[in-house]
Amino acid sequence: MIKDIEKILVSEDQINELCDRIAKQIENDYRDSKKLVLICILKGSLPFTAELMKRISLPIELEFMKVSSYGASTVSSGVINLHLDLQRDDLSDADFIVVEDIVDSGRTLSYLIRYLSERGAKSVRTCTLLDKPERRTVNFTPDYCGQIIDDYFVVGFGLDYNEKYRNLPYVGILKPEVYGG
Ligand code: IMP
Ligand code: MG
Repeated sequence: MIKDIEKILVSEDQINELCDRIAKQIENDYRDSKKLVLICILKGSLPFTAELMKRISLPIELEFMKVSSYGASTVSSGVINLHLDLQRDDLSDADFIVVEDIVDSGRTLSYLIRYLSERGAKSVRTCTLLDKPERRTVNFTPDYCGQIIDDYFVVGFGLDYNEKYRNLPYVGILKPEVYGG
């Protein structure tokens, strides 16, 4: 795997630091929340959600959703598919934070905010490990962001290319020749 990585963009130490920072922000913002629910967006945000949640010293509940906007490609298809829905009936008593690995076009998180709001969520915010604002096609800004990056295709710490590289402990730039770029 390592031979396919051009450069490490966010190291393990940097990931730990940004998780510390975001966890503190969330603790401050949700101190008075009656019920805080983190929604881990499968599969990519699993490592980030795990690192983040253990640093938040407030009572939290954990949920999972699975959506996709990508096929086996490095370019978003633009269509959001909901593969695993939130397993809850009443959303009106909880504050939700949707946790993503990366924001690209912004479509996935815009869609999820709209979807959860329409289902009656008390509040919805978004948290992402990485953000590529240059790639935005819709008007969207995450509430919590680990790191803004330039327009590279990155893998590791949950992020994949064709389901591979998710288990790298850092985020790295994939060599363009690996995906024919
Ligand atoms: P958006 O809906 O276009 O913002 O797409 C967000 C999703 O695209 C993320 O959850 C990732 O699954 C995927 N994605 C976007 N950029 C990258 C990347 O550089 N590496 C791996 N996956 C990416
Ligand atoms: Mg994803």
